[in-house]
Amino acid sequence: MTKKSERKVKIIGTGMYVPDKVLTNADLEKMVDTTDEWIVTRTGIRERRIAAKDQATSDLALLASRRALKSARLEPQDIDVIIVATHTPDHYFPATACLLQAGLKAGLIPAFDLVGGCTGFLYALIVAEGLILGGVVRRALVVGAEMLTRITNWEDRNTCVLFGDGAGAVVLEESKDESGMLSHFWQADGNLGPLLILPAGGSKVPACHDTVAKRQHTLHMKGNEVFKHAVKRMAEAGEEVLKRAGVKKDAVDWLIPHQANMRIIEATGERLGIPREKVYVNIHRFGNVSVACIPMALDELNQAGNLKKGNIVLLDAFGAGFTWAAVALRW
Ligand SMILES: CC(C)(COP(=O)(O)OP(=O)(O)OC[C@H]1O[C@@H](n2cnc3c(N)ncnc32)[C@H](O)[C@@H]1OP(=O)(O)O)[C@@H](O)C(=O)NCCC(=O)NCCS
Repeated sequence: MTKKSERKVKIIGTGMYVPDKVLTNADLEKMVDTTDEWIVTRTGIRERRIAAKDQATSDLALLASRRALKSARLEPQDIDVIIVATHTPDHYFPATACLLQAGLKAGLIPAFDLVGGCTGFLYALIVAEGLILGGVVRRALVVGAEMLTRITNWEDRNTCVLFGDGAGAVVLEESKDESGMLSHFWQADGNLGPLLILPAGGSKVPACHDTVAKRQHTLHMKGNEVFKHAVKRMAEAGEEVLKRAGVKKDAVDWLIPHQANMRIIEATGERLGIPREKVYVNIHRFGNVSVACIPMALDELNQAGNLKKGNIVLLDAFGAGFTWAAVALRW
């Protein structure tokens, strides 16, 4: 729903971390039947980052979170809740957010994970906004962290070229001025869940030798179906959230779309009527990092000084579930 009150929640710090190791399209040509040309023209991706063997999702989240706290000029003890959006937790349980809380030495604050498809970071932002405006917490650390390369079938050329590892984090608190989240829009359609799924390892198909042999612990996707829904829903969400914020399209300074495919990004920008130079793209360098894409993009823009006070920023995402959401904010 739209936020009715004048009170707003704002992002006061951003951070990101990506592993050092780069996997290029040329590297993938040696692994599966693909070409750099196919990957670049069909997806826009040129390279992606791969976590080291001894890294887990909470390690990526920790490094991104420390940077976000530094950018907010805060200590871990200044945070009241931690929400981590992820599909690749360190373990089923405990939650990766709890491991992050311990890693940060943030004290005994509540910490939980949120599974919202590639939209998870935006879902987490909206939840955190509600907690802050509802007076439940004063400040929130919201993280999108992912190691999709750990759930990738490296023999499936349809999917293994798409994904990468990384984390992005933001710190939120109530705004004292005009800046902050202006409106949000979030939806889901569980009927379409099987089109993008990790089939085994849960209560429906518990892990056994057979599920491992059949690679059912890796991501399965009907890519072209997902593509069609993503373009439609991201355009709808973007339109709706701008309407709710009372912001005209030409007032948007940055569209930060989920980075799943360059053609989805371009189609979303075109449908929303937002010119290419205002659409932030980093998919060529990182691939699809799921929930980490948007906070990583926010941090890149922020650190480069390209988010000016008063800028209107539109965040827009789509993912497994299916889920989709958009957030309009004034920087
Ligand atoms: C996955 C995706 C890049 C595939 O692109 P596409 O244009 O839809 O391609 P298709 O799946 O229709 O496949 C077209 C052909 O390319 C082939 N192909 C697929 N991957 C390939 C690869 N890495 N290298 C070479 N050829 C490949 C297919 O086998 C198919 O060949 P065929 O026509 O002989 O059967 C695209 O559908 C996509 O990005 N989907 C959305 C992904 C997404 O958003 N996921 C996360 C949710 S947010």
